[in-house]
Amino acid sequence: MSYNYDEICQIYDDVREADFEIVKFMVDKAGITKESHVLEVGCGTGNYLKLVHNMTKSKIWGVDQSLGILSKAREKCCDGKFIQDDASELLNLPNSTFSLVFMVDVIHHIKDIDKTFESIKRILKDNGTLIVFSDSHEHIRNRLTSKYFPETLAPELKRYPDTSQLTNSLLSNEFRSVENGILELGQDQNYGAKLIDIATKRGYSMFGLISHDEIQKGVDRIKQDMLMHPVVYQQRACYVLGKK
Ligand SMILES: C[S@@+](CC[C@H](N)C(=O)[O-])C[C@H]1O[C@@H](n2cnc3c(N)ncnc32)[C@H](O)[C@@H]1O
Repeated sequence: MSYNYDEICQIYDDVREADFEIVKFMVDKAGITKESHVLEVGCGTGNYLKLVHNMTKSKIWGVDQSLGILSKAREKCCDGKFIQDDASELLNLPNSTFSLVFMVDVIHHIKDIDKTFESIKRILKDNGTLIVFSDSHEHIRNRLTSKYFPETLAPELKRYPDTSQLTNSLLSNEFRSVENGILELGQDQNYGAKLIDIATKRGYSMFGLISHDEIQKGVDRIKQDMLMHPVVYQQRACYVLGKK
């Protein structure tokens, strides 16, 4: 089954929100001020950009391939510039301009990661920062989605680049100060109900990779566990970072 963000944009904000700790980390790492230009590649409906702007008053830009998604982002962030493009091209963006370029939960959709990082390097300012948030293979194996929807595990491992691949691609594009790490984002005590909602709406693209029956079985497993104990999730975010 394929996954279409132009269709999913209607329920997108029911299942995704920006995380304050992630934004604070990026803003601090890149030293963002109100003079800075900040770009999110694969920006979705602009939840992260809105929070970046609220925190810093910086100039925000978003690129996404989906026109439906971009129209939602424009409604939400009237101060932003939004451009439809593929992440690997970034053709209509100015060279050597951005203090921070970031990607959250996007890199597994990208066909040519080396070319994407090369394009991002072209538009970063000297000393500008690229930060990519994406689940490592270890993280994917330990996610509750892999426990309750085990059919997602193999295709997820196949489509997600592991941290070492992202790090190597940054190094081969001659990014400096390359590092990776994990942010601890706290516990979600009510994750069972949330995951049922996301799975039922096919709100994450992984639910486009498995059948309706497999989703229903996973929902039943969560409900069974919730009869006995709360389904709690320790939220973490894995990142890689490099400087131009
Ligand atoms: C899981 S969403 C994440 C959106 C946003 N970063 C967030 O965390 O809310 C992935 C987004 O990447 C976009 N996307 C997927 N492949 C892309 C590509 N090759 N170029 C640009 N955007 C892409 C999708 O349209 C979608 O909006």
